Amino acid sequence: MPDPILDIRSLSGGYEPTQVFQDVTLQVAAGESIGIFGPNGHGKTTLLKTLSGLIDPWAGDIFFCNERLNKKGERGSRKWRNFNYDAITRRRMDPKNVARAGLVHVQQGNLLFPELTVEETLSISGTAAMGRKGWSLAEVKELFPRLAERWTHKIRFLSGGERQMVSVSAGLMSAPKLLILDEPTLGLSPKIRQELCDAVLSVRETGLPIILIDQDVAFLEQIIDTLYLFDHGRISGRMSREEMPNHDELMVILFGEHH
Ligand SMILES: Nc1ncnc2c1ncn2[C@@H]1O[C@H](COP(=O)(O)OP(=O)(O)OP(=O)(O)O)[C@@H](O)[C@H]1O
Ligand SMILES: [Mg+2]
Repeated sequence: MPDPILDIRSLSGGYEPTQVFQDVTLQVAAGESIGIFGPNGHGKTTLLKTLSGLIDPWAGDIFFCNERLNKKGERGSRKWRNFNYDAITRRRMDPKNVARAGLVHVQQGNLLFPELTVEETLSISGTAAMGRKGWSLAEVKELFPRLAERWTHKIRFLSGGERQMVSVSAGLMSAPKLLILDEPTLGLSPKIRQELCDAVLSVRETGLPIILIDQDVAFLEQIIDTLYLFDHGRISGRMSREEMPNHDELMVILFGEHH
């Protein structure tokens, strides 16, 4: 077995003072894509934010391409009311180092600058790549023809689906070695949702490993090799794509017969 690209060991975290997830251990093998499926509010996004260093882990380790991303030491985070320089230097992880290493997180709810145009947004998206080769503007335009039509429009005039396309494009331009997509299809109309799913599938077909969180089981099934069930801040199951049940069966596994 080659070393995994991402190796998460007994990771715990949350928002001080509330712990959200505990003892998460999982690996992503080279070339593999995984899905995480679980109920709303159980901590999936918090786990991903911890992976990308947006919030600090409380315990555990994160290895990416055989490098440990977290510093050892005192629990960092914003536990102190006076958020100051000290608190920053005590942090265990630095999100820009994570992105530069190629672990790229497309956040839930596509957080973009509303006053920038699509072109402006994507023209700065390659900076996280630090010289590594990410997707080019021409390639993301080809992936999302709809964006080419909206090129000079400000983000705030785009639809939710178009914003999601910009977010995914920005991620691809950051030269990911592993791309994290947190609920990319949430709240989209069927047509634009299909466009986005097709695009993610063609990204997958380039061989790029993906961590995908999504509520759409049929979509997950197209993209991932392994599915992790996530329940009350813990991994509660692991199955291969072949073993994956349908949506209703998953609901029974997570909530029991009478949900
Ligand atoms: N910035 C924050 N500060 C404090 N608590 C938060 C913050 N963001 C989320 N939470 C809480 O952490 C818990 C886990 O939320 P999280 O967003 O990680 O869940 P999720 O599984 O991604 O849910 P969803 O399916 O709705 O995206 C929830 O109880 C939520 O209210
Ligand atoms: Mg979430």
